[in-house]
Amino acid sequence: MILVTGANGNLGKAAINFLLKKIEPSKIAALVRDSKKGEELKTLGVEIRVGDYFDYDSLVKAFKGINKLLLISSGSLEDRTTQHINAINAAKEAGVKHILYTSVVTPSHTASFSAVLSHVETESYLKKSGITYTIFRNSLYLDLIPMLIGDALQSGKIYYPAGDGKVSFTARTDMAEALANVLVSETLENKIYEITGSTAYSFYDIAKALSDATQKQIEYIDVPPEAMEQELLKNNVPSGYIELLTSMAKAIRQNELSYFDSSLENLLGRKPVGLKEFLKIVFQPAV
Ligand SMILES: NC(=O)c1ccc[n+]([C@@H]2O[C@H](COP(=O)([O-])OP(=O)(O)OC[C@H]3O[C@@H](n4cnc5c(N)ncnc54)[C@H](OP(=O)(O)O)[C@@H]3O)[C@@H](O)[C@H]2O)c1
Repeated sequence: MILVTGANGNLGKAAINFLLKKIEPSKIAALVRDSKKGEELKTLGVEIRVGDYFDYDSLVKAFKGINKLLLISSGSLEDRTTQHINAINAAKEAGVKHILYTSVVTPSHTASFSAVLSHVETESYLKKSGITYTIFRNSLYLDLIPMLIGDALQSGKIYYPAGDGKVSFTARTDMAEALANVLVSETLENKIYEITGSTAYSFYDIAKALSDATQKQIEYIDVPPEAMEQELLKNNVPSGYIELLTSMAKAIRQNELSYFDSSLENLLGRKPVGLKEFLKIVFQPAV
């Protein structure tokens, strides 16, 4: 049986939907923090298990009888390494045979992006755990672009401090499909994949693609990093979130999220969704 954590989140839910196309629902379990969040999946025949990364005993109970675990990195950055270590230890105690963990593209101890360190630490712990593993080092989601561009559709301007730094943006649904493909495959070897789009895009590329998709002139304005921080402070964004967003922008500016290769294309058996295609789906004016 395969268990997917973060099953109420975007990536977990999408991975389960792809699994449902490949295997019987009775072979899929979903971890949610609150059983109410699993009701929709339950109606599809997926077994709902309740657990929290902070509650070790709940995880051991939830992982009983599970062969393969899709450990989706926590959406909460608070003590995130501890949350993931709890899940890995609980999987070991429950007898799980294989863990597929969702990390970040080219993780490094020296990364600017504050979300990266807990991935580096989790990968290191997982590799030493004795359980066989697959690591999906996911690039940034294309799905983040609507948030990153702010009110560009109204103002005609994208203000962001990325310089001409590039990102190998990837559609979340492509990642989910590839996760499902790996989960149903027979092999359980230790493998690490950099999960990226087929190329990397700058914010100049995003402005151009957005202009084409919307038939409006949209320009990218490279602002100083401090300007972004001031804007977030002015809007009373919580400090932890400001740190996350500004460090991500710094990482993009320094091309730390730009690596791309053909792993995702190979896992999907087709080209991943690209920037133009994605923006057309999201922003093309209704006719
Ligand atoms: N590559 C990227 O661009 C990118 C962007 C954003 C996030 N991420 C990372 O990728 C993960 C998956 O992305 P997503 O879009 O699916 O994120 P999401 O929709 O925010 O889902 C996050 C999931 O984490 C679960 N979670 C949070 N704290 C937990 C805890 N203490 N115990 C158990 N589960 C917990 C949430 O459960 P509830 O439903 O109960 O809240 C939710 O299901 C995120 O969690 C984050 O680590 C990557």
